[in-house]
Amino acid sequence: MDGIPLTTLNDGRSVPRFGLGVYHVPPADTARVVRTALELGYRHVDTAQGYGNEAGVGQGLRESGVPREDVWITTKLDDGRHGDPRAALAESLERLGTDHVDLFLIHRPGDRDVATWRTLIDLRDAGSARSIGVSNFSRRGVRVLIEATGVVPAVHQIRANPRTPHRAMQAFHRRHGIATEAWGPLREGRLTTHPTARRVADRVGATPAQVLLRWHLDRGLIAFPKTTSAARLAENLGVAHVRLTPRDLRAIDRMRRRP
Ligand SMILES: NC(=O)c1ccc[n+]([C@@H]2O[C@H](COP(=O)([O-])OP(=O)(O)OC[C@H]3O[C@@H](n4cnc5c(N)ncnc54)[C@H](OP(=O)(O)O)[C@@H]3O)[C@@H](O)[C@H]2O)c1
Repeated sequence: MDGIPLTTLNDGRSVPRFGLGVYHVPPADTARVVRTALELGYRHVDTAQGYGNEAGVGQGLRESGVPREDVWITTKLDDGRHGDPRAALAESLERLGTDHVDLFLIHRPGDRDVATWRTLIDLRDAGSARSIGVSNFSRRGVRVLIEATGVVPAVHQIRANPRTPHRAMQAFHRRHGIATEAWGPLREGRLTTHPTARRVADRVGATPAQVLLRWHLDRGLIAFPKTTSAARLAENLGVAHVRLTPRDLRAIDRMRRRP
């Protein structure tokens, strides 16, 4: 993706810091949305077993003609499958029509996370999940996995955006070499009407969504906003060409909700 920075993970692999999220994209629309995104230049798609649209992601990828190895695909282990991640991943691969995912995350903590994490390590070693990580964990929950196995998650996907950046969690990630993925970077779209986002957008000649997304990239976060609209897919990818000054970044930092 031209102009999209990469993050190097603690396992040595590189992930495009910007992509498409497909939560709430209806299964019947997913192939079209993914194909359009890939045709526009997206190279990173974030799905989950729980979204019910992995088959559409795979179909969109095939229809786009973009080589599999050029696209980063993340999926997440469903809450009900913590006891059998191996079978759950095999089913995902079948739906996606691929022999590996680039990133496999435990979607939410459960009551047997160390055992689940050990199986994810095996899946990584076998190559069916090239990188592994977690989502929506506490710091303590992440620490327990590291202490029990010695394997640090490559990624922790958390809800983060300029209103609630979770800086303490990000600092924890930096200390452990964990990349932070921000889900809900637009706060489900609501941040695009925030006066600060509008003001910075006017100043730099971009849209509010673009400056908010650029803030994520410039603050070292990985973000994958969801949209089903072709126009917004193109608008959001325009983040690649937006430049924010330190003053712009500080203005967006001040959107943070008072603790
Ligand atoms: N790990 C987890 O537990 C977890 C939880 C939630 C989400 N996620 C991941 O993170 C991704 C992104 O989060 P999200 O989908 O919750 O929220 P989001 O990306 O912050 O916001 C999506 C909303 O913003 C709107 N939008 C998109 N582009 C826009 C633009 N340029 N201008 C104005 N509005 C715009 C979309 O509407 P339209 O579709 O109508 O354009 C949609 O309603 C998800 O798709 C999923 O992959 C992970």
